[in-house]
Amino acid sequence: MAKKIVVASGKGGVGKSTTAAGLYRAFSAKGLKVLAVDADIGLRSLDIILGLQDSVAFDWGDVLLGRCEPRAALIRDGVCALLPAPLALNRAFTYQAFRRLIAFLEPEFDYILIDAPAGISKGFHLAACASDMALIVSTPDEICVRSAAVAAAGLEAFRLQDIRLVINRMGKKKVMAGKMLNIDEVIDMTGIRLIGVVPEDPVVAFNTVKGMPVPANSPAARAFADIAERLEGGNVPLKL
Ligand SMILES: Nc1ncnc2c1ncn2[C@@H]1O[C@H](COP(=O)(O)OP(=O)(O)OP(=O)(O)O)[C@@H](O)[C@H]1O
Ligand SMILES: [Mg+2]
Repeated sequence: MAKKIVVASGKGGVGKSTTAAGLYRAFSAKGLKVLAVDADIGLRSLDIILGLQDSVAFDWGDVLLGRCEPRAALIRDGVCALLPAPLALNRAFTYQAFRRLIAFLEPEFDYILIDAPAGISKGFHLAACASDMALIVSTPDEICVRSAAVAAAGLEAFRLQDIRLVINRMGKKKVMAGKMLNIDEVIDMTGIRLIGVVPEDPVVAFNTVKGMPVPANSPAARAFADIAERLEGGNVPLKL
């Protein structure tokens, strides 16, 4: 059975989809089978970040509405796959139906990464109800950090107890200049156990819009590989 991980945040634009894509690539580089599920209803982006947008024919909304079979909605990418998000919300998108779909697809994969929308909307709740672990992504600024704690509290309502923190876009110079919080401050303010720190990396923004993987030796890709290894149970020290 797959390990199902929701990637969530409080504020938007903090790097959830980048993290989901980074982990997707890190796991697939290890030969693991990963399903990326975009749960950002109406604002999907994983198809672009993974360079698969031209292959989108169906989405999971079509499955829940009975328009196609679950596997027909998958965009195959070697042994991995993407399940795109619907473009609009529908009453048929119930917790039960979404959970049943994820459970149906689960046996084929080692990991299911569910990219949630920002905040604590319907897509966030659907993603949470189908997951057994959560990664909360936050940038190291006070507003995002506070909202990360709110998102974590929202997940606890779904009995999700295994919640870990990813600090994204960390920049040493900005911390030194007092423009950003340091790692300890972010951990203290969120109260969430850290699983990794991803540095600010200009290659990420450039490659993301082109749907190109970040080179494996870039700082962000190395950080995602470390997080993937930790999720696999490896003891990888933080490289600061
Ligand atoms: N570590 C990083 N270094 C540089 N740029 C980054 C990094 N992480 C994310 N970005 C950039 O930040 C922007 C937002 O990232 P992303 O779309 O992953 O955020 P998100 O949390 O999924 O947003 P939304 O809430 O809208 O879904 C993108 O342009 C992305 O390339
Ligand atoms: Mg996103």
